[in-house]
Amino acid sequence: MKLPSLLEAKKRTTKKVEYLDYNNNPSLFGLNKKYYLKTYGCQMNEHDSENIKGILESVGFNNTDVMEDADVIILNTCAIRENAHNKVFGLLGRIKHFRESNPNIIVGLMGCMSQEEVVVEEILKNYKWMDFVLGTHNIDDLANVVKKCMDNKKLQIEVYSKEGDIVEGIPVKRDSNITAWVNIMLGCDKFCTYCIVPYARGKQRSRTKESIINEVEELKEKGYKEVTLLGQNVNAYGKDLYDDYDLANLLEDVAKTNIERIRFVTSHPWDFTDDKIISKYKNVMPYIHLPVQSGSDRILKLMGRRYTKEEYITLYNKIRENVPNVSITTDIIVGFPTETEEDFKETLDLVCTCKFDGAFTFIYSPREGTPASIMKEQVDENIKSKRLKELNTLVNKYSNESNKKLLGTIQKCLVLGVSEKDDTKVMGYTENMKLVNIDASKDTIGKIINVEITNAKSFSLDGKLVK
Ligand code: SAH
Ligand code: SF4
Ligand code: F3S
Repeated sequence: MKLPSLLEAKKRTTKKVEYLDYNNNPSLFGLNKKYYLKTYGCQMNEHDSENIKGILESVGFNNTDVMEDADVIILNTCAIRENAHNKVFGLLGRIKHFRESNPNIIVGLMGCMSQEEVVVEEILKNYKWMDFVLGTHNIDDLANVVKKCMDNKKLQIEVYSKEGDIVEGIPVKRDSNITAWVNIMLGCDKFCTYCIVPYARGKQRSRTKESIINEVEELKEKGYKEVTLLGQNVNAYGKDLYDDYDLANLLEDVAKTNIERIRFVTSHPWDFTDDKIISKYKNVMPYIHLPVQSGSDRILKLMGRRYTKEEYITLYNKIRENVPNVSITTDIIVGFPTETEEDFKETLDLVCTCKFDGAFTFIYSPREGTPASIMKEQVDENIKSKRLKELNTLVNKYSNESNKKLLGTIQKCLVLGVSEKDDTKVMGYTENMKLVNIDASKDTIGKIINVEITNAKSFSLDGKLVK
């Protein structure tokens, strides 16, 4: 049994990252058995889930969408905010109930929550009936852990609180055959004072350029149209591995594979140098997610973000001026400890200045073990909710305005599937990442088509195919 430790997870040393190869488990012990997987959290977790599926299917399991039919149930969890926790424990309660009539079902917790001491303590106290907890550092051990649980029904806890290494060649079962996630780096060393990610995901470590480019080339050969390069701070790519190779170089090499569309998330303003703004390659898409978190310099400092409101706006304007048709979205937290009405006004002011194409807004949620969680003046929940509402009204106004600007224009859209709103239509994304529900036949799925924008709402556009 290996339990998580926040103290260990916090450590950063100069120890070199190990690059390992996936050690295959050849036995097909999952044949005629099904797994159910539920995923919470960010794109990184979604991509981890594609690895979880890949591993389970490589040992014979089949996927099911019906939890009650599964032999193995896995929750791939997120720890970023408290409500993510509550949802998972709520679902575990339900699972416990129907597992009573079928005690052979294997139930496992994976993802960022499994890296938290408080969560594992809770499981050891109140959820002893579960079968395994497997941390983010050893997804590659999943087949062995499930096998062990099937052979011997005892709670297995395998959570390493370490800086982390990189395992290449983990099986992957992708959710789409049009667009694919590609990790370019793992972990985070920024330690923003509110955030659990550096503890849950280990240190910032880059994959080698060769393995990334190979993966993109393979995807292109298989017919994929788009890749999204993933990392918590993609602008810091390569810093830990190369002296003279960074995100700008990587984007250039990935662009040269001639895959049709390349995206990258998330950008931290800190490492955003000019050469990363301007790409001469047409297949690098004009969309940047640039989280700001707050408009108040005092709060930004307490958050440990290392830029001022002014510096953020300067960078923001530089991107707008240099990237034609770019759209820029952001993340904002309201109610960080000590946030006053004045601080909040600064955030509203920043939103008015930047006029973001979209923003993900969050109420600050204290995460145990992070410095912000023990700051004295936590903001009252009612005030947090009031601020969130006010902020959302403003944010929606600007995303609506930005969408309206596209009315009547022709946009190139990559069609990903049938529209969720109306199954006689298809849905896709513009180059600058706007969701469009399109009047076009299903034959267009997987293709890049010209679409005339006919209607603009706050969160999506409507359009029709034009030749
Ligand atoms: N690496 C990215 C963000 C990853 S987490 C970056 O630094 O830009 C996604 C978003 O969740 C963050 O941008 C932040 O807005 C939000 N978030 C993180 N921790 C939070 C917390 N404790 N409470 C509320 N929101 C949080
Ligand atoms: Fe969290 Fe900050 Fe790292 Fe983003 S940069 S993952 S907010 S610590
Ligand atoms: Fe992502 Fe949530 Fe973990 S946002 S990195 S799944 S804490």
